[in-house]
Amino acid sequence: MENKPLTDTIEPTENQDAVVAALAEKWRDKKGSLIMALHDVQSHYGYIPRDVARKLAPQLNVPLARIYEVSTFYNYFRLTPPGKHVINVCMGTACYLKGAPELIEEIESLLGIKEGQTTSDGLFQLEVVRCLGCCGLAPVKTIDGEVHAKMTRKQVAEIIAKYK
Ligand code: FES
Repeated sequence: MENKPLTDTIEPTENQDAVVAALAEKWRDKKGSLIMALHDVQSHYGYIPRDVARKLAPQLNVPLARIYEVSTFYNYFRLTPPGKHVINVCMGTACYLKGAPELIEEIESLLGIKEGQTTSDGLFQLEVVRCLGCCGLAPVKTIDGEVHAKMTRKQVAEIIAKYK
């Protein structure tokens, strides 16, 4: 089944009801369409907004509970808006052995969030990933895709401060 991005068929500026209507039109009565519809929602908004889920459920003839079941089962789906700056900390074997857990601990304590969460001001989002492909530079983290190698707790704090 081809899944053209929703953004091919709907302008990003259109309001939420228009987005929901376009999604319903695209996915209603198609077998296995709920996941595809949720992918569309997330690529459009960056996460699954509660209001969109609530409006979409009756349009797709699925219980709202089913939408939450699916969107919480798959790690890929986010139920909160993405942060402005996305921090990825590698927890692959090399990074783990070189101190990635301490980096995560430091970031969590600096920002007051846990893995998978976004700070209340929307500035930072913390994600834990598996092997960024530069194990020789462990422990590694990225901010907005920029790689920071051989990180220490102190360096992590300094780098985060620059983004504030
Ligand atoms: S294990 Fe961290 S980059 Fe490979």
